[in-house]
Amino acid sequence: MRAEDAPMIRLEDYRPSDWLIDTVDLDILLDANRTRVRSLLKLRPNPQGRQGAPLVLDGDELALGSIALDDVPLAPTLYTSTPQSLTLPSPPDRAFSLRIETELNPAANTKLMGLYRSSGVYCTQCEADGFRRITYFLDRPDVMSVYTVRLEAVKAEAPVLLANGNLVASGELPGGERHFAVWHDPHPKPAYLFAIVGGRLDHIRQPYVTAEGRKVELAVYVEPGKAGRAGWALDSLVRCMRWDERVFGRNYDLDVFNVVAVSDFNMGAMENKGLNIFNDKYVLADPLTASDGDYISIEAIIAHEYFHNWTGNRITCRDWFQLCLKEGLTVFRDQEFSSDERSRPVKRISDVRTLRSTQFSEDAGPLAHPVRPRAYKEINNFYTPTVYEKGAEVIRMLKVLTGDDAFARGMDLYFERCDGTAATIEEFLDCFIETSGQDLTHFARWYEQAGTPTVVASGHYDAAAGSYTLELAQSTPPTPGQEEKAPVVIPVALGLVGKTGDLPLNSISPALKAGGVVVLDQPSLNLTFTGLSEAPTPSLLRGFSAPVRLELDLGDAELLRLFTADSDSFNRWQAFQTVATRALVRAGKSGNLSELAEKARELAAALADFLAGPAMADPAFAAQVLRLPSAADIAREIGKDVDPDAVFAAHRALSRAIGAALAEPLSALQVQLRQHGPYSPAAGPAGQRALRNEALGLLALALPVEASALAQARYAEADNLTDRLAALAAMTLIPGEAREALIGRFAELYADEPLVLDKWLMAQALIPEAGTLDRVKALMASPAFSLGNPNRVRALIGGFSANLTQFNRADGAGYGFIAGIVTELDRANPQVASRLLGAFKTWRMLEPGRRDLARSALRMVAATPGLSRDVSDIAARSLA
Ligand code: BES
Ligand code: ZN
Repeated sequence: MRAEDAPMIRLEDYRPSDWLIDTVDLDILLDANRTRVRSLLKLRPNPQGRQGAPLVLDGDELALGSIALDDVPLAPTLYTSTPQSLTLPSPPDRAFSLRIETELNPAANTKLMGLYRSSGVYCTQCEADGFRRITYFLDRPDVMSVYTVRLEAVKAEAPVLLANGNLVASGELPGGERHFAVWHDPHPKPAYLFAIVGGRLDHIRQPYVTAEGRKVELAVYVEPGKAGRAGWALDSLVRCMRWDERVFGRNYDLDVFNVVAVSDFNMGAMENKGLNIFNDKYVLADPLTASDGDYISIEAIIAHEYFHNWTGNRITCRDWFQLCLKEGLTVFRDQEFSSDERSRPVKRISDVRTLRSTQFSEDAGPLAHPVRPRAYKEINNFYTPTVYEKGAEVIRMLKVLTGDDAFARGMDLYFERCDGTAATIEEFLDCFIETSGQDLTHFARWYEQAGTPTVVASGHYDAAAGSYTLELAQSTPPTPGQEEKAPVVIPVALGLVGKTGDLPLNSISPALKAGGVVVLDQPSLNLTFTGLSEAPTPSLLRGFSAPVRLELDLGDAELLRLFTADSDSFNRWQAFQTVATRALVRAGKSGNLSELAEKARELAAALADFLAGPAMADPAFAAQVLRLPSAADIAREIGKDVDPDAVFAAHRALSRAIGAALAEPLSALQVQLRQHGPYSPAAGPAGQRALRNEALGLLALALPVEASALAQARYAEADNLTDRLAALAAMTLIPGEAREALIGRFAELYADEPLVLDKWLMAQALIPEAGTLDRVKALMASPAFSLGNPNRVRALIGGFSANLTQFNRADGAGYGFIAGIVTELDRANPQVASRLLGAFKTWRMLEPGRRDLARSALRMVAATPGLSRDVSDIAARSLA
């Protein structure tokens, strides 16, 4: 079948499987080119399915070796097998067993789905539908089975043999060359959570006792010689396990928990039951090879995958349309964990930045889809910011709307009621309907309706009456396939800010709930607050209480007042960002930079006061304030006929002017925040580094000569990767020989550290200069790069595709380059190719010239013969 003719899979067509598989016994003989898989399945008719239905097992590029039913070889007339399926047209009308043998070539598996080799290590990735690349199976999440897995390998090649569950036997085979291990996982699970690992690996471990008293052996496995970099991951694991016990009452449920780091991995990490497999980028850390940001992501992703043990594994998804049931909820859980471990406002700001840059842009373009999609051709293309990040926002709103107590009881009920099942969003929401007594029918629209709602707010103060009237109105723009939009339930957390702080919220409106939350569930709403002796400034959407765009009728002066006076940190940050955004949008549209000078003075004055005052109490927050909205943020705000060069010029001009006006305090920070003593990844010192380095970035634009000296000194004296990278990033903003020299020295220093060189590749791919495309092409030929490794591709090629001005070059060469790589990469690894093609998701907002060029590049991809379903689906939807 041609990829573009792949069938559409629809939520409304769901029906239970006709067959169930109670147990799976696998016997796997690991070999680089000829791995033999023997599978014994215990099948029975599903009482919920159709009786007498054929048995159709899924496969993907499989070759059947042998097949036996109830231990008797099956006659060829009784089944048909293709690489994609194994069909028994008339299976017995009762429980029976099947023995199936397949042979695999892990070394040739470049798709990194199913069983493959990464730097000589055998590993698997089965979500969403990779298990069918190992053996014929009912590869759907509502078929849950108990697995026993025997692994056998040459001991010297694979001294470590791991699978899901607990180890029940192991030993050497006669002759002493080969050995085996048998693992049993007592928890029924869908095939996508299956995993094995075999190879030469070092590990570190730690005993752990759960709150319920279960003794667990925790271990982190890494490439030989890298055990010294596994400590932070293990430490994070212990902390998130305690947190889940304390906050969600969730205990771990096996005797071992293993984490394995591999260097070739399509995604970030995978929550296989008891055997999480990670991209090594999200495990390995020491001060000289991991940045503060890496420490933060490792902690978050270790937690995320661990939290899936309950939200995803114990309770899994009925079908892939319910993906947000596990992903959105687990992202919410990992965000809460990180907020508790570090600064809550800073975490919220950084999450909202990500949401806006990835999800809002997706929602505004051709790939927009609901948090629960209704149809897909390729499920791997639906692991999106909408499912993940917006999915997490929906849970956050649910918590605000039902209240902390009903939310907590709703979660408890969900864990109790749905444990061991493959559940749906409806079953999840039912738990909160019961504990809160609220009707959540209308709220559930968040799962069905795509697009980012806009809330327009305006207010009026009546001095004589001492009252303030607030009007809120919502609308959602049309998205592909969803022209008409209905109002959604938007919790707007708010405050009224007076001269000396928050004013009391007195209103008889039923829309005002406890804790200062107004529920906007109609197209519009009027609300009157009384007892106000001064004109208030409204602080709306505190803590970003809903994933919407907010349009305020506040002037810049009022916003800057909120920046200093709001009791909500998020909105202090937001107020400043809004003033900067407005100025940049105006200048980015008109191309007229002269107005910016005046704004720059206002913004700089506000920042000067901030830096002289409260900033030092929370440097991590101050770093977020100093970081202006990105040029891509401004492009998205403009939304149509965008000229990336004009946006970039405006962004440069404003950054430069602010940097120049603040040269003194920013330089002072360089000295003041200099750290003494050994590196620590803790939030405190990391925050200080963040502020100091953010300031260095502004200086690099405003005072290149001075900043170049500062950056080179920073590089020379740094005892950690964070400062070295900050120096490198600052230097990339200052063209010249010193920059090239530093780039060269960095590469020499880290020649044997691919993960660090990824950052070096990306820093160069992001240089906003005309020479960058040639630089990237040259780097593709360097030993630091390989098209076969997803991390390398994401760093260099993905980095370039995020370079606003260079990907969007006016001559279209950036589009042609990415399109060419996508088609080439597609032959080896469709998933990575398809994600790369996602760079075009905002092409429709460009000015006509670039729009035409981007469209041609997309058409070129779409017209390529032999495309994968992954790439063909993205290309077709992007063009539709
Ligand atoms: N279940 C996913 C991994 C996955 C994603 C498998 C897509 C198959 C297809 C895992 O839990 C996950 O969400 N990983 C994220 C990182 C996480 C912190 C959001 C990833 O890999 O990017
Ligand atoms: Zn996940």
